[in-house]
Amino acid sequence: MKDLDRLAAPGTPERELVDRLTPSSLPRHVAIIMDGNGRWARQRGLPRVEGHRAGIRAVRDTVEAAARLELEALTMYAFSTENWKRPRWEVRTLMALLKEYLAKELRTMVDNNIRFRPIGRLGELEPEIQQGLAQAVELTSKNTGLTFQIALNYSGRSELVDLVRYAVAAAHSEKLSPDTIDEEWVAAHLTTAGMPDPDLLIRTSGELRISNFLLWQIAYAELHFTPVLWPDFTTRDLIQAVADFARRERRYGGVVEGGHDNTEEAAE
Ligand code: FPP
Repeated sequence: MKDLDRLAAPGTPERELVDRLTPSSLPRHVAIIMDGNGRWARQRGLPRVEGHRAGIRAVRDTVEAAARLELEALTMYAFSTENWKRPRWEVRTLMALLKEYLAKELRTMVDNNIRFRPIGRLGELEPEIQQGLAQAVELTSKNTGLTFQIALNYSGRSELVDLVRYAVAAAHSEKLSPDTIDEEWVAAHLTTAGMPDPDLLIRTSGELRISNFLLWQIAYAELHFTPVLWPDFTTRDLIQAVADFARRERRYGGVVEGGHDNTEEAAE
């Protein structure tokens, strides 16, 4: 891991955690449900908008830390298809923050070899945002480090609906036959095509829900729930989640050789 000192200062508890991580124990792909901006603001007597603004800081720090940890992919849930139901002014603020983020962070992404990849029903976002997203995709497309996927106007169900629509249309025009469809085909036709599934899903703010995020892709993800409100989420919290993941034993429905075995056969 390069740049260890910038990830965690020597002598700190989180540096000890980082020093114990081996490349094979790291998740390849971390997904995050960022929650708690509103509560963070309320606790401080501030308008909700300030919670979102502070949330942007946490986005920036987390993207940087994920790149330093040399993760392959980071996916963050920034705006769901259901978030349009929020008051108009709040939706407007979130979109304004997104524009601001794109304008400010594009250079950092280019300089840090980060590949930017928005996912979701992007065609329903305002044209100016669509242009900003397309520009960021274009300018970072050759980067080979972290892929930063930002989920905008996204939900797992809408993604699956879009896939079914596509499949039915393709079948009608005889470009697709039912036998072609298997798990690989589905994965290759989702917005996340080409990316490994998330190994670790983090949700902040103490809520224990998936909220329609990456429903297909998280089939075998390890879940990490933390009470920390999103604007308070720091590099230390990401390191803790990753270290916690590194200790888990993943079985994908099978058994792990040499692992803890409490089957009936073992009891014989
Ligand atoms: C949930 O907090 C958070 C969101 C609605 C999305 C996350 C948005 C950001 C971090 C800011 C925008 C980021 C970018 C990159 C544009 P909440 O409002 O649901 O919190 P609450 O549950 O405490 O009310």
